[in-house]
Amino acid sequence: MKNESPIPAPLPEEEDDFLASVCAGLRQQPKSIPPKYFYDAHGSHLFDLICTTPEYYPTRTETEILERHGAEMAEMIGASSTLIELGSGSATKTPLLLRHLADDAVYLPIDICEPHLLQSTQRLQTLFPALKMHPLCSDYHQLPAHAIKHHAGRRQVVFFPGSTIGNCTPEEAVQLLKTIADLVGPNGGLLIGVDAKKSTETLNAAYNDAAGHTAAFNLNLLRRMQRELGAQLDAEQFAHHAFYNETHGRIEMHLVSQCRQEIRLNKEAFRFDAGETIHTENSYKYSAEEFKKLARIAGWHLKSTWHDEQALFNVHYLSLSAIEPLKLAR
Ligand code: AVJ
Repeated sequence: MKNESPIPAPLPEEEDDFLASVCAGLRQQPKSIPPKYFYDAHGSHLFDLICTTPEYYPTRTETEILERHGAEMAEMIGASSTLIELGSGSATKTPLLLRHLADDAVYLPIDICEPHLLQSTQRLQTLFPALKMHPLCSDYHQLPAHAIKHHAGRRQVVFFPGSTIGNCTPEEAVQLLKTIADLVGPNGGLLIGVDAKKSTETLNAAYNDAAGHTAAFNLNLLRRMQRELGAQLDAEQFAHHAFYNETHGRIEMHLVSQCRQEIRLNKEAFRFDAGETIHTENSYKYSAEEFKKLARIAGWHLKSTWHDEQALFNVHYLSLSAIEPLKLAR
């Protein structure tokens, strides 16, 4: 066999993915980029800042719900279970659940951002030294069933907080809920945080915070393209735009081109008219009733819903069995 030319070093898988996704998204009309690419180290940090703003109610509201009802949730999760957290990030809410789980529980956080994953798992391990923890660096859209199989025989419950499922279209959400069902098996469960529908003013404010963290978070996508892909673009000539689309029941985030311009990337030129946008995120909002119906299509039964006093946010516990779980005799 002849050795024709040196084989180029492959890009790390994630960067490769990023380049391919951005190019594919910018070739489309309208242009879009999937929101999972917000979360490089800087983007994850910006997201944490968003969560501290007075306008962004979801994080603190869900935290309050977990603080108040974590014990009941842990009771539904049950003893000797494996808790699999999808997109765990900084995992700031997880202790509110772990503190009510027995020492024989296993915690399996999954996140695409490795520094965040390792740092947060270390912090949790210090807080709960008795719990076994198995962090897994992966994209939860490609759920690594093989990594979880050796926990078979234990009851597996997915914890999916933060209303991250809102990034999916309803059709994609049903698919993801089915994938989670296959992952946990017939005896498994799902504890999921879902943002609720509410006034347009409250929703719009949450995605347009006065401190500008959401704008920086959105624009960081362009900076990341510059840093990691060598994209040639003028980030100053794009503006953050977020609004509630009532017809679709979702917040939309866009990057709006402020002039006629182009982005050059990987020998391609992507042209923008003034006012043309890159659609960077959808964040769907569901009433408890709407989410219950969606989950039913994917085979789940809603067992319990907890919410704050203003019902801004819901945390649902779902199981695959229609039968009430047996309560242990006391
Ligand atoms: C992490 C996807 C739930 O949709 O509210 C926050 C992300 N985007 N501000 C959301 C986000 C802009 C967030 N999720």
